[in-house]
Amino acid sequence: MKVLSVTPEIFPLIKTGGLADVTGALPLALKSQGIEVKTLIPGFIPVMKQFEGEAVYSYDDLAGGPATVLMGTVAGLDLLVLDAPHLYTRAGGPYADPGGNDWPDNWQRFATLSRVGADIGQGKLGAFQPDLVHVHDWQAALTLAYLRFEDAPAPPSVITVHNLAFQGQYGADIFRLLGLPPEAMSVDGVEYYGGVGYLKAGLRAASAITTVSPTYAQEIREPAFGMGLDGLINTRANELSGIVNGIDTVVWDPSRDPHLKRPFSREHLDGRRHNRAELERRFFLEEGHDPIIAVVSRLTWQKGIDLIAQELDNIVAAGAKLAILGKGDAELEIALAAGTARHHGRIGLHLGYDEGLSHLMQGGADAILVPSRFEPCGLTQLYGLRYGCVPAVARTGGLADTVTDANEAALAAGVATGFQFAPDSAASLTYAVRRLVNAYRDREVWTGLMREGMKADVSWDRSAARYAALFRSLVSPKEESA
Ligand code: ADP
Ligand code: GLC
Repeated sequence: MKVLSVTPEIFPLIKTGGLADVTGALPLALKSQGIEVKTLIPGFIPVMKQFEGEAVYSYDDLAGGPATVLMGTVAGLDLLVLDAPHLYTRAGGPYADPGGNDWPDNWQRFATLSRVGADIGQGKLGAFQPDLVHVHDWQAALTLAYLRFEDAPAPPSVITVHNLAFQGQYGADIFRLLGLPPEAMSVDGVEYYGGVGYLKAGLRAASAITTVSPTYAQEIREPAFGMGLDGLINTRANELSGIVNGIDTVVWDPSRDPHLKRPFSREHLDGRRHNRAELERRFFLEEGHDPIIAVVSRLTWQKGIDLIAQELDNIVAAGAKLAILGKGDAELEIALAAGTARHHGRIGLHLGYDEGLSHLMQGGADAILVPSRFEPCGLTQLYGLRYGCVPAVARTGGLADTVTDANEAALAAGVATGFQFAPDSAASLTYAVRRLVNAYRDREVWTGLMREGMKADVSWDRSAARYAALFRSLVSPKEESA
């Protein structure tokens, strides 16, 4: 089976978050399920720098300039890169200028990516005719509207929602520039609260909808998590499922991770203390036996970073040290920096994005804290499990699905892997830190948590099989039910 994946990000070429990790790892995992994935991405500067491909299709004028689709392979990933310099050759990130402001023409940059996704779905690229189109998040969602409203044969489709908070919502005025037929401006099409909704359009048109964990799939049916889309999602409940993310166990392997000071494994945990010492050095933390809790995150409200900022004094009083790596909202950065200044030696902060340091943190810290208000899946707790960095997580979305709380029953059965606490509650977060510090002081309990976590299957194997089964059920429904 041939699948076209359409996404704005893919690891290792361009990444702002977990979406890239998933779109980078899933195609490799699907290969062993007999599924050939080609991924369409925009030709952002970092992508063009790392990629060489052969031109397979060209446009004289695509949204105001010439464009070419290039085909090639990088890091085992088969890519189709949309080289359209007038849209994607810009300093800054994929979505924002160097000052952090969203590009004003994002509606066009991602509608165009989707336009090309639909062209490929419709078979315009003779060299590659997909049996199914798989789109990720709002940036690729409009692909499915083009496929649905145009008079051309369209393969079945899946949309994966990585985060319902980002929807690609624009004014009605852009509709006439999208090149969709007039009937697409309807509740059955792209119309959303009087304007145009990209994610909405994808959710409406997809043959099937997936989210990145079973719990999040249930949560988004409720107004509290549905972000205005719960009504539509409920009408599609029969086509909705949650498939939990895996991680790339080659990139994230403590026994041969080049970012670590010392490799280690479940059987030989000893190397960990060298990484821990390096972490203390890098974050200017006091040496000593108190647990180091890491935070590796976008610094935003979703991630509950304000709760951490609010509880810094109590976390330190509970006997923990904190090592924080992140970047995001200015007021959160300021609050964390103020706390760091108050607790020199107990709190260390790196403001920025540093892939290598994030590996060292998983391999050196004792625990990782993820206090999200909502979390479609979350990857840092999965890296934590694999690296013996015990996760303490809010009980929501994929966090609830992947970490087993160290309650009495789980400890007695030897199945606990971390700590869970109520989301959106500063008091509950600090209480979890106290439980964590107590558990850390009992070496037997703590080593049990580490070893049980390191045993957990966080690979893509099971989830790739689920995607493969879903894809097959859509491509050959008869075979499936026979
Ligand atoms: P989200 O995609 O919502 O940000 P995930 O947990 O799914 O959350 O994925 C976040 C990814 O980004 C992980 O791979 C994490 O290690 C990485 N990450 C987040 N912030 C940073 C940072 N400041 N430096 C390095 N890596 C980071
Ligand atoms: C989104 C979500 C995160 C998820 C990631 C990959 O960024 O916020 O929870 O792990 O996508 O699916």
